[in-house]
Amino acid sequence: MTDRAVTAVAGTNIALCKYWGKRDAALNLPATGSLSLTLAELGTRTTVAFDLEGGAGAEDRVVFEGAPAAPAFAARVSAFLDRVRARAGLRARARVTTDNSVPTGAGLASSASGFAALAVAASRAAGLALSPAELSALARLGSGSAARSIFGGFAEMARGNAPDGADAIARPLAAGDGWDVRLVVAVTARGEKPMGSTAAMELTARTSPFYAAWVAGADADLGAARAALAARDLAALGAVAERSALRMHATAFAAEPAIIYWNPATLAAIEAVRALRAGGTPVYFTIDAGPHVKALCAAADANAVAGALAAVPGVLRTIVAAPGPGARVVEET
Ligand code: DP6
Repeated sequence: MTDRAVTAVAGTNIALCKYWGKRDAALNLPATGSLSLTLAELGTRTTVAFDLEGGAGAEDRVVFEGAPAAPAFAARVSAFLDRVRARAGLRARARVTTDNSVPTGAGLASSASGFAALAVAASRAAGLALSPAELSALARLGSGSAARSIFGGFAEMARGNAPDGADAIARPLAAGDGWDVRLVVAVTARGEKPMGSTAAMELTARTSPFYAAWVAGADADLGAARAALAARDLAALGAVAERSALRMHATAFAAEPAIIYWNPATLAAIEAVRALRAGGTPVYFTIDAGPHVKALCAAADANAVAGALAAVPGVLRTIVAAPGPGARVVEET
């Protein structure tokens, strides 16, 4: 038998209730639950083939956007594949090809879509038939936010209580199905962010005096977000999204040394969202571990929101993203 190549795609997701901190680093278990929207436009396409005739000796070969992947990235992929191999009883090395449909150099490349696509492609290529819940737990081992991209639309990641992480998985929130919202991304910088999420949340948890308060407030935000989704109340959902993002960043500002992801255009874009709202457009911002601003609004307002954000000094480009499906296999040869 020769190796089977499986290609999977996944959309990235943007958290409206943020995940920021772990209760177990080895199993990558989150300190709190989180809630997000999986996007159609921005994602990852990954092909995995295990080299069943090549023996166990060689290295995995990881190609990112047409070139051999950087060593740190390749090592993270290999460590993830080791878990898949262990589960499938495989020793074969793999060939992995991965491409992001995020503009290169925009600083938006996301481990969420990356590890969701890798979990789906690698598990299938290894001959495993995992349920969505099992795929979510597997993807979480690569990156916490990836657990949510297994599902489309709105998804909630549970903190879980089991020591082995079996219940630290995401689930789709049917209440949000078909809600025609958009996330307008305002790109405010080029290139990679200065500190990745994993290191930044670890530093925050270890040194920020606000971290305990952040964790303590998460359940209330999740409850409010669920209720807002059930009621299709954009203003209520937006209010939760803004306070979750601001509190996450406030905990990071208070870390030592301080973690400041924002640039002047970040603040200007926040101001633009607030001005739009004051003018009667229901639009709400969120910000991840970087300087870009993502604005949540109704589909009908997305072009106007994108236009207003594009006019903000320092905003390099805008991308309008719609809700999208969960991670899935698209090709098998
Ligand atoms: C700010 O999922 O990238 O985007 O689990 O260490 O890989 P690791 O972290 P990651 O963190 C995401 C942080 C965030 C908020 C969120 O997506 O919930």
